[in-house]
Amino acid sequence: MSLEDPFAGRAAWFAGHYRSGRGRARLELVMDRLLPALPPPPARVLDAGGGTGAFALPLARRGYMVTLLDRSGEWLEEARRGAADEGLRVQLIEGPAERAPDLVGDGFDAVLAHTLLVYAEDPMGTLSALRAAAKSEAVLSLLEKNRASLALRPGLTGEYEEALRVLDDPISAGRLGIPNRSRSTAELRSLLVSTGWRPRDWAGIRLFSDGVRDDIDEASFASVLRLDRAVATREPYRRVARLVHLLAVAEDAGRPPLGGVQAQSVERAARSTRAAWPPDRSLSPEGLHRFLERKKYAVLSTARPDGRPHAAMVAFCLREGVFWLPSVAGSARLRNLAAEPWATLVVSEGEGEEHIAVVVEGDALVHAEPGPVLDGFLRDAWAQKFGTDLTTWVGAVVELVPRKVLSHGPEGAVAVQ
Ligand SMILES: C[S@@+](CC[C@H](N)C(=O)[O-])C[C@H]1O[C@@H](n2cnc3c(N)ncnc32)[C@H](O)[C@@H]1O
Repeated sequence: MSLEDPFAGRAAWFAGHYRSGRGRARLELVMDRLLPALPPPPARVLDAGGGTGAFALPLARRGYMVTLLDRSGEWLEEARRGAADEGLRVQLIEGPAERAPDLVGDGFDAVLAHTLLVYAEDPMGTLSALRAAAKSEAVLSLLEKNRASLALRPGLTGEYEEALRVLDDPISAGRLGIPNRSRSTAELRSLLVSTGWRPRDWAGIRLFSDGVRDDIDEASFASVLRLDRAVATREPYRRVARLVHLLAVAEDAGRPPLGGVQAQSVERAARSTRAAWPPDRSLSPEGLHRFLERKKYAVLSTARPDGRPHAAMVAFCLREGVFWLPSVAGSARLRNLAAEPWATLVVSEGEGEEHIAVVVEGDALVHAEPGPVLDGFLRDAWAQKFGTDLTTWVGAVVELVPRKVLSHGPEGAVAVQ
């Protein structure tokens, strides 16, 4: 038993946790969302920080080829016993998730990281390593402790001082007794975008079942699970569940071209959207580029933490399918993006039949230390486009990664100059 391993001596407790009401709810509610998101067996699944095999074993039972990577030999031993009892094949590898590609190779069809980042000193390093072990379009299942609800459990069980403390401090110990960091979905989504994962949807896990008694009868347990399933994606409940479950998809290096994002957006558009943005009036990929290269200003819309919309003029540079928006330090849009890292940009010109409009929605990453982006290209690109020195006022740079693009141009828009 290694003295450096904070998990040593706790594997049996954690395995037992999955027999408690709370543990069973965690497993069932996550499995509900995970199974439909996975490619069919025998796809290769990497369970990083998979511990005692609570997820690895049921997946192996369903025919998945599971590799469980964990830094604790003791927890792996618990998983080995569980697999042996059932005659299941699970590859068990001891080591840190940060070294995943060296330890387990690459090409995984799916990666699980369930309450792993809570313990990570360098969550970007961990997620980057997991991205390197995954193949393109692989699914990531990320389960994390929810920053927004940290005070709820102590506050509802009479630990009022602890509830007050965690309002301002994301570090807490939980029942396992190991200090860990909870994060907001906004933080997690930004981490995913900056490490090559495209966030998909997210759900709140275990809101009402977080308070179940271990001796809860089966009928009541089934009811509370139904209740938690019903609120998993329903506002405002999901925001205050104990855990958040995010699904993401491994992206290729580089961002997809704007024309490709537009084609996908048109394909997925609802009938009402197609009526407002008729596909035959979309700008061609070249027309889209020419228009956006020529334009300098746009309206950027973000959401205030209390839900009220905020819109303001911004100047932008477009580079390889990504919009770069310099901002003064402390601006409203930076505060808004910290709470909800998603923005809509509208670029338009002209009136009536001749007007052109482009709307772009996407993940918005804030570069609070803009130095590397400025040195990388933005200082020069800005000077070329605007003829001014951006560095005299810029405090942060927003990187808007388009996920939805729609455009409208005059008749024969493919020829827009
Ligand atoms: C709370 S347990 C979760 C286990 C499992 N993912 C689950 O949800 O049942 C956290 C696990 O992550 C492992 N772990 C923590 N940091 C790790 C790291 N950097 N690399 C690999 N495993 C790690 C621990 O050894 C432990 O098994």
